[in-house]
Amino acid sequence: MKALIIYHTRTGNTEKAGKLIGSIMSSRGVQVSFEKINPLKEEGYLKSMMMAIFKREVPILNTNLDVSGYDLIVIGSPVWGWNITPPVNSYFQDITGINEKRIAAFTTMYGFGGERVVKNLFSQFIKMGGKLAAQVGLTKKDILNESMLNSKLEKFIDDLKI
Ligand SMILES: Cc1cc2nc3c(=O)[nH]c(=O)nc-3n(C[C@H](O)[C@H](O)[C@H](O)COP(=O)(O)O)c2cc1C
Repeated sequence: MKALIIYHTRTGNTEKAGKLIGSIMSSRGVQVSFEKINPLKEEGYLKSMMMAIFKREVPILNTNLDVSGYDLIVIGSPVWGWNITPPVNSYFQDITGINEKRIAAFTTMYGFGGERVVKNLFSQFIKMGGKLAAQVGLTKKDILNESMLNSKLEKFIDDLKI
């Protein structure tokens, strides 16, 4: 099975979770690839927050936008202003090959808004024909607690039946 883990990160939490998801999946025999969403530039906190709330997009540098070669798509976004981030919005505009694929979504956040973000991620994928498989929201507390993080991610991957 081939899985693509797509994520955006600014301060490393979502990347940390994504890499751990990748290593647990690899240990279960999945062939894992990563796609980090790279915005052309970083905006300040307030502007980033407002752009997320208003569901704006920003230019991104990614060119690997065709996911048709993978069996499973895992996507991770930090929570910004109770929303997915503008670079993730941009990636969704350009992604192709989702049809009928299994999707799993994860978020990292300080502590609030994750459920709504996961719902947004899923609804975007469903519109493109993807099928829901698993979801998890990780707070700062979870990210800092290795055993908590591991057990939440093991469960997330169990839900994918791999
Ligand atoms: C612009 C901005 C807005 C944020 N809004 C929220 C929020 O609404 N809820 C929350 O719990 N955390 C919020 N956070 C905190 C991040 O979601 C959290 O630190 C996340 O783990 C960062 O992921 P990263 O390290 O991968 O960039 C915000 C952070 C930034 C920079």
